[in-house]
Amino acid sequence: MPMSNLDLVELIELPKISDPRGNLSFVEQNQHIPFEIRRIYYLYDIPGGSERGSHAHKNLKQLMIAISGSFDIRLNDGNDSKNFHLNRPYLGLYIPPMLWRSLDNFSSGSVCMVIASDLYDEDDYLRNYTNYLNHIAINDTPGQ
Ligand code: TYD
Repeated sequence: MPMSNLDLVELIELPKISDPRGNLSFVEQNQHIPFEIRRIYYLYDIPGGSERGSHAHKNLKQLMIAISGSFDIRLNDGNDSKNFHLNRPYLGLYIPPMLWRSLDNFSSGSVCMVIASDLYDEDDYLRNYTNYLNHIAINDTPGQ
């Protein structure tokens, strides 16, 4: 059974400096996450019932954090899937390349922050599920 990138998905517990004045967490490249940080983006003002994602990335590595509130992430490698419920600002979900992802069930006021290994590049996206499956088949390895 070839290895799937789904096996590389990891819920990473980030440092948390507890303080009566308010807690603090941080992320350092190549320390807490296995890549160099080249971009940060965030989803906010998300209407109830929205679904985001529904694509895969050919090369991009990401860490997703529920900076505020909560949401669900479903990751799929073309064969199997894994579901995560993110609801803590000190937990990051590491997502390696070539996994189809969908995000939904956003709580009111939630913010999804994404730390990414590269700049925005539309050519890195696979936005059609059939194309995604074909891309896997060409490479002959699920989720690689
Ligand atoms: P997309 O990645 O499809 O959003 P999501 O996966 O969160 O549903 O991006 C939505 C739009 O925003 C799309 O037109 C590309 C644009 N975009 C940028 O211009 N820069 C970025 O860093 C990102 C993530 C998206």
